[in-house]
Order: sequence, then structure tokens, then C-alpha cells
Amino acid sequence: MVSHLKTFDDRKLLAESLADAVAATLAAAIDARGQAVLAVSGGSTPKAFFQALSTRALDWEKVAITLVDERFVPADNPRSNHLLVAENLLKNAAAAAEFVPLYHQAETAEEAGRLATEETAELGSPFDVVILGMGNDGHTASFFPGGDNLERALDLGLPPEVIAMEAEGAGEPRLTFTLSALDDAELLVLHIEGAEKKAVLDKALGDGADAEMPIRAVLRHASSPVSIYWAP
Ligand code: 6PG
Repeated sequence: MVSHLKTFDDRKLLAESLADAVAATLAAAIDARGQAVLAVSGGSTPKAFFQALSTRALDWEKVAITLVDERFVPADNPRSNHLLVAENLLKNAAAAAEFVPLYHQAETAEEAGRLATEETAELGSPFDVVILGMGNDGHTASFFPGGDNLERALDLGLPPEVIAMEAEGAGEPRLTFTLSALDDAELLVLHIEGAEKKAVLDKALGDGADAEMPIRAVLRHASSPVSIYWAP
């Protein structure tokens, strides 16, 4: 699906503008059906956006927040995306939102993925807002080049679920929604910052296999338009 690049003079302006766009989409979903679902990514990029969004006036008690992906670690681990969201987004007005984790204590990441698939099924689909990040290797969510479950993760013919993913560049085992759970969001955002990530995006927009730079699967095959938010 076509992507739209929105360029901002600085990262604070991007964070405020993205927070406004997300808040408006969530508010419209609440007006339409009494609830809204937001799925966010972890990493270092989204912190300022999370903090801006946390201050927006919304019926947050009608909003469910979950993760696009998670490291297979408990919420008290510094690598946890749940911890990142708890510290930066689930505060101020947004503290009233419901958080639905992907991590579950289980023998294996596969079992945790099955539990997360069951628990997140209640969120319904499509999600109202999905916020994706991107690594310098062209991964997004936990769709890493060389990932052991990458083909399954990118197969839009498969039903939405949370699956385990292991890859050299991923560190610990990951839990990730499949692309089919994310690609039809009402508002589908790729949030990246810095010159290096812009160069990675430009390469991803060129020729090459999806598996080489999995962000390509989103840019090329998502059923929703991709809104790319970028600041230097
Ligand atoms: C994660 C994210 C991942 C992230 C990219 C970019 O769990 O790390 O979901 O997909 O968006 O790795 O991370 P940075 O924002 O730290 O560059």
C-alpha cells in the first residue's frame, strides 16, 4: 500500500504531531464503537511520543494498549517493552488505559505466544492504531532478517496471532504479532528518527526481497496506507 512521508523539523514537533493524530484516531474509535485499541513498539525512538500521548485528553478507560512485539522477559527486566510503556505511556491521563501484555511466564516463547494469542483475541481486529519502529537492519516489530519464524510472520494469508521469533539480531527470544494482525490498522504508522534510519528507509523502498529487509513487507503489502513519521 502507498506510504506517505511526513517530515518534521525536530523530534519534539514529531512527537506532539503524532500524539495528536493518534489521540484523534482513538477518540473517533471510541465515538464509533465505545472502545479503541492501540498497539505500540518498543525501543528507544517512541519515548517522547509516549510521553506526549500520555497527556492527551481521552476516555482512556475505553482504550486498550498492547505491544506490537515484546522481548521474552518479565516486566521487571530492563529489556521489557512492557516496562518501557509503563514508565513512559501508562501515566498522566493515559494511566487509566488497560494494558494487555504479550509476555507470559511459560516454559517456552512458543507457549507464551499461544497464551498471548488467546488473551489478545479479545481486542478484536483490526487495531485502531499501530505504531511501528524500524531497526537499521530493516526489521520492524520482531520481523528480523533471518528470523526462524519470519516467513510465518509475514504471511498475510495466515490468521492474526502472536508468535515466537528468534534471530541473530534480536537478542533474547521475541514475541511478535504477525503482520496479518497489524497491516489493516485504521492508522498504520512507521515512526523513525535520524539520518541513518532515513537511509535505511530509502534502501527499503528500493528493490530487494522482503525477507532481506522485512519493513518492505509492510511498505509493499499492508492493506492500510503507511504514514511514515520522520525527523532528523
Ligand atoms: C523492539 C521494537 C523494535 C524497534 C526497533 C527500533 O522491541 O525493539 O519493537 O521493532 O521498533 O528495533 O528500535 P529503536 O527505536 O530503539 O531504534
